[in-house]
Amino acid sequence: MFKKTLMAMAMGGTLAAGAQAGEIEVMHWWTSGGEARAISVLKEMVEDEGHTWIDFAVAGGGGENAYTVLRSRAVSGNPPAAAQIKGLEIQEWGDLGFLANLDDVADANNWDAQLPTVVADFMKHDGEYVATPVNVHRVNWMWANPAVFESAGVEIPTTMDELWEAADALKAAGVTPIAHGGQAWQDATTFESIVLAVGGADFFEDVFVEHDQDALQSDTMIESLEQFKRVSNYIDQGAPGRDWNVATGMVIRGEAAMQFMGDWAKGEFTAAGLEPGSDYICAPFPGTEDAFTFNIDSLAMFKQPNASSTEAQMAMAGLVLSDEFQQTFNLNKGSIPVRTDMDMSAFDSCAVEAMDTFKSTAANGGLVPSMAHGMSTTSSVQGAIYDTVTEFFNSRSMTAEQAATQMARAIRAAQ
Ligand code: BGC
Repeated sequence: MFKKTLMAMAMGGTLAAGAQAGEIEVMHWWTSGGEARAISVLKEMVEDEGHTWIDFAVAGGGGENAYTVLRSRAVSGNPPAAAQIKGLEIQEWGDLGFLANLDDVADANNWDAQLPTVVADFMKHDGEYVATPVNVHRVNWMWANPAVFESAGVEIPTTMDELWEAADALKAAGVTPIAHGGQAWQDATTFESIVLAVGGADFFEDVFVEHDQDALQSDTMIESLEQFKRVSNYIDQGAPGRDWNVATGMVIRGEAAMQFMGDWAKGEFTAAGLEPGSDYICAPFPGTEDAFTFNIDSLAMFKQPNASSTEAQMAMAGLVLSDEFQQTFNLNKGSIPVRTDMDMSAFDSCAVEAMDTFKSTAANGGLVPSMAHGMSTTSSVQGAIYDTVTEFFNSRSMTAEQAATQMARAIRAAQ
């Protein structure tokens, strides 16, 4: 007990002698194999501190379902103590006055010094810490089954042209080239990687951060939409509605050649006991190797009516930047640590590449916030983009020009 108290103090946790054990209800959408392994690390650490973890998992990749449930809980005056919310959504909850101030924990643990500014900024509302970051995901990845590529006699593509050549060859060999889940957020995840490949990082920001009307209706946007539409020629009939981890399973089992997904997909390969390089390949989405679309997961703390829950919240917040949590959580999750000073020797080649690219793009340009994962814009603009992207992807008659015009209008209306 004494050791634990000391450890808690060293880590800046607030569980000092005489502190109360509390309950902490944690809302999240980490329900796939890899995700569940990752969040259980935090649960164990919080329970080791003597607090009670109440798990509130709302299934649904990308978090749309969880956000809906969170809103109704908040409206009824009963939000969970902690919730997996991120990006600009944190600002929206902060504006509504729901979030607890974490500055004491942040000061005690030196968050300002430990976190890259790009990460810290997302965690603050009006200059105060209100959320704690757990990881950085890279979204612009492609996951491939090398045996499937080999049997079709094609190389892993590194450009968009090579992608379509490979997809044709795989299709001709009787393989499903792309494992896709037809859900709005997954469509948007693929779409934003294609925008990055076609237009580059500056164009990506013009469209998804600035919402520049000229860029939105430019030839580059139309070209991006056309390239995106081509994906639909290479997916199987079971795609509509499919969960992302089921699509990853298709690549794992060799039923499809590749998937375009953030590195939470790696958590599934890891949970299946597979090794990158030999059993599966992680490669940047074709044409985006010098860019990094970031998606930072975080837990925001909601103000609680009782002191013991507040205590448990602060204890949890004090744990997440520790070496132990950052390493174990991120090894399971597929992401990289939020702290760039971490020893990466326990991490695999995909994570080492992600960390290198995260640092180099932060220094030289190419680090862009994910639209599909709530980092670049408000939830209403994101929703407007999702709607057009999904409608266009599934439509038999909508042209890329029409989609570009519709998206530009929908964004303007949602701003
Ligand atoms: C989250 C990831 C999660 C993924 C699939 C993303 O928006 O940031 O943590 O694994 O959705 O659910």
